[in-house]
Amino acid sequence: MPGIPVILGVGGGIAAYKSAELARALMEQGGEVQTVMTHAAQEFIRPLTFAALTGHKVITEMFSNASSEDVLSSSVEHIRVAQENRLLVVAPATADLLARFAQGLANDFLTTLYLAFQGPVLLCPAMNTAMWEHPATVRNLEILRERGHNILAPDDGRLACGTVGPGRLPEPARIASIAMGILRQRHDFDNETVLVTAGPTREPMDPVRFISNRSSGKMGYALAEAAMSRGARVILISGPVHLSAPEGVELIQVQTAHEMHHAVISRLDEASIIIKSAAVADYYVANVPAQKVKKTPMRLSLDLEPTPDILAEIGRRKGDQLLIGFAAETENLLQEARRKLQSKNCDMIVANLVSQDGVGFESEENEVLLVQRTGETLHLDKAPKRVIAGQVLDQALILRLALHKVEN
Ligand code: CTP
Repeated sequence: MPGIPVILGVGGGIAAYKSAELARALMEQGGEVQTVMTHAAQEFIRPLTFAALTGHKVITEMFSNASSEDVLSSSVEHIRVAQENRLLVVAPATADLLARFAQGLANDFLTTLYLAFQGPVLLCPAMNTAMWEHPATVRNLEILRERGHNILAPDDGRLACGTVGPGRLPEPARIASIAMGILRQRHDFDNETVLVTAGPTREPMDPVRFISNRSSGKMGYALAEAAMSRGARVILISGPVHLSAPEGVELIQVQTAHEMHHAVISRLDEASIIIKSAAVADYYVANVPAQKVKKTPMRLSLDLEPTPDILAEIGRRKGDQLLIGFAAETENLLQEARRKLQSKNCDMIVANLVSQDGVGFESEENEVLLVQRTGETLHLDKAPKRVIAGQVLDQALILRLALHKVEN
């Protein structure tokens, strides 16, 4: 049986020697590998190594200098390779390659192929720690991440340059299994309607001011996208955020906790899984003045009233729908998560410490505890929110099976 056609792009870094092992690992896991090397990559390892391992000619040049017929075919070679393959893995993705991909430059075969390729992309950066942490690289990675590419962060360890830190290319077998996992996109949410709430709410104080919180909506949008890509119909009810809704998701935009409450309750019956990742305001300002409040030397007090607890209300109303709440805490994580699980009648609480640096509100990454109705608690290591979203969805399906078993 022919393997799944995969492109392996090799950049010019010392880790290029590991790419040969990666080519083999991809083949062992069912890939048929077409290698493309940059000029710099060939300074570290010879194309012949890949040709011998994969059984395919390695592409090293944009333009062939052979006969006119060959020249004609080589001028569209990148299109053919882009169309015939199902995944582009770049390892090592050097700082230079990341910059060129981010900018959309097409100045060699690999970067031109990248622009022509419409399938999923897995980038495996490897470089010196200072280069990895340089704001230019950080920004380029942000651009590539926003473009929806899979980025496998480098491992920590001793680098070829003698320093210790992040920058090492992860083990080839691990890269290969992530690559093949991307290709075996699951459709395990085909029969689900998932209602996701995301972002903060804004509670007006007067016509120009509001009370809100630091939620960016990234976790909720990642959940919506993950559920959609696994086949679900997704209703995303979102507070004001700077994100665009994933293609195919039904987006309902709201501002206040009351508007979110109304939107959720009116769509509740359609959902088989409800995920309440929004950071809903607990209070709203009663009697919002019609005109802007003017400054005076006097103290000013706001009259705050509690908002409806949407999650608790769903917990009271729900039938056999799976209800997943969130808990943003600054202390006593497990204890608070358990309390919310019980008091709001949830099936699972995704709990995170928002006081921790680099995770939670506004961050790209998260580290969470999944506290479940079955009594089981699962810790998810720090990872990009997209990865955490996938793991939460995996666990939701496992949990539902476990709960059905208990009931029957
Ligand atoms: N939530 C809600 N409606 C509210 C407040 C919170 O639906 N008015 C939901 C959130 O969407 C989240 C969960 O409740 O899924 C927990 O939110 P969190 O702010 O952590 O907890 P609170 O219930 O507000 O409790 P506390 O402020 O005491 O931590």
